[in-house]
Amino acid sequence: MWPFKKKKKRKPAYDLAGYTQKWDTLAKEAERDGTQYHLEQGDGFQLGRYERDGQFDYETYRRMQEAGNREKLRTVFASKEFVDLISKDVASRLGKIGGILCHGTRNGTEQAWFKEHFPDADVLGTEISPTATDFPLTIQWDFHEIKDEWKDHWDVVYSNSWDHAYSPSKVFDAWGRSLRPGGLMYLEHTETHEMVDKLDMYGATPNALQREVEGTEILRYVETIRKPTKPFKKKKGFTRTALIFERRH
Ligand SMILES: C[S@@+](CC[C@H](N)C(=O)[O-])C[C@H]1O[C@@H](n2cnc3c(N)ncnc32)[C@H](O)[C@@H]1O
Repeated sequence: MWPFKKKKKRKPAYDLAGYTQKWDTLAKEAERDGTQYHLEQGDGFQLGRYERDGQFDYETYRRMQEAGNREKLRTVFASKEFVDLISKDVASRLGKIGGILCHGTRNGTEQAWFKEHFPDADVLGTEISPTATDFPLTIQWDFHEIKDEWKDHWDVVYSNSWDHAYSPSKVFDAWGRSLRPGGLMYLEHTETHEMVDKLDMYGATPNALQREVEGTEILRYVETIRKPTKPFKKKKGFTRTALIFERRH
C-alpha cells in the first residue's frame, strides 16, 4: 500500500548459540514422539508436566529448558533497580552477609548486580543449561536438588525463575533447606509469573505461591516488597514484587 514503507531489515529473533532447535519445535516433536503434556489447575496456580507412560519425563523437561535458555541466552529478565531494592532490603534486615544463592540465572547478570552490593559475599547462580559454564559465578545445576554443602548455609536465596519448576514443593523445600536459620528467600513475582506455557510451566498468584512455600513448613512468609520498574520488552508499567520468606529453624 502506498506510500510504501521501507521494510526494516529483520534481526534474528533468537540466537540458538550452537543448538539446533527452538523450544517450541522441541515440544511439538516430543509430543509427536509420545510425550504427553498435562496441565494441573488449582486455586490460583497452574502446573504443567511432561509424562511418558504415565511417569514424569525429566529428559524432555531438561531438553526444553536448555533449548529455551539458548534461545534467550542474551536476554536479561531481572532488573538492576529491583536487585538494588532487594539488596538494600537484605542489608537492612541481615546486616553483613556471607552468601547469596541465585537460582535459574541464565547469563549471570543478577549475580554481578548482587556482587556490586556485597563484594565480600559468596554469590553463586544455578543454571540447568550447559551454557552455565560460559558465565562467571554460575554452575550447571538443576535447582530442584540441594548440594550437601548448601544445607543450612546461605544467608539469602533469590530467584525470578521459580516458574520453571516441575515440582514447586521439591524446589521450595530444597531452597528453604539451603538457607541458614533466619536466612531469607526472595521470590520475584510479576504478572508474567501467573501465566504458563510449555517452558514456564508453573504459574501462581502471590497468594498461591505463599501457600505453596509455607507448605514446606520450614519457611514463613515475612513481607512483600514492590517497585514499578522500567518496562520489560514492550510491556508498559511493569511492577515487580518480591515475596520474602524466612527460614524457621
Ligand atoms: C526466565 S529465565 C531467567 C533468567 C535470569 N534469572 C534473568 O533474569 O534473566 C529462567 C532460567 O532458568 C533456567 N532454568 C530452568 N529450569 C531450571 C532448573 N531446573 N534448574 C536451574 N535452572 C533452570 C533456564 O534455563 C533459564 O535460563
